[in-house]
Amino acid sequence: MNFAVLASGHGSNLQAIINAARAGRIKADLKVVISDKKDAYALKRALRAKIPAIYINPHDFSDRESFDRALAGHLRKFKIDFVVLAGYMRLLSRYFIRQYPNKILNIHPSLLPAFKGLHGTKDAFDYGVKVTGPTVHFVIDEVDAGMIVLQEPVRIEAKDTLETLERKIHKAEHRIYPKAIDLFARGKLKIIGRKVAIV
Ligand code: GAR
Repeated sequence: MNFAVLASGHGSNLQAIINAARAGRIKADLKVVISDKKDAYALKRALRAKIPAIYINPHDFSDRESFDRALAGHLRKFKIDFVVLAGYMRLLSRYFIRQYPNKILNIHPSLLPAFKGLHGTKDAFDYGVKVTGPTVHFVIDEVDAGMIVLQEPVRIEAKDTLETLERKIHKAEHRIYPKAIDLFARGKLKIIGRKVAIV
């Protein structure tokens, strides 16, 4: 199976995925990394790992779907079977999601369905919950609402700041995302209604 990573930012999850794939802990080939941000450090990480890195400029397109048609065109060229979002902060169009039904994974930094949206870690921290943590889920046509694959609880201690909490959540993300990707690639995830069974 071939997969692509879409990333907009720092790319620490991308790095964890690259490392896991190199170590044989993901049985699939990462063929291309694509970003909607020219300066995304994720693109540099891809190039350093000798993985093709592509920047698509959103300003070159009149709307979300035409951007996504260009994106899907690149993925077809690389014969991509499934797509991994790793800090990709651009909403996907219905068109794109239909191209890859139940073949797009995302990671979110809170225990969904709590604290959906762009600031999952800060929103959980500010709310005062005692436990939060990342969620890997399938992408459906509703933001942060897809079927849940893996979650890892992270405790918020009295001494935690937003920064220390972010670090703990990232570490947990780097553990569960490669694992979820490998399960998917090996056909071990079975979607039954809203539930995902590991078979
Ligand atoms: C991750 O914490 C991920 O959960 C979050 O962006 C960060 C990207 O970090 N994604 C979302 O908030 C999606 N709504 P990275 O660029 O270092 O992998």
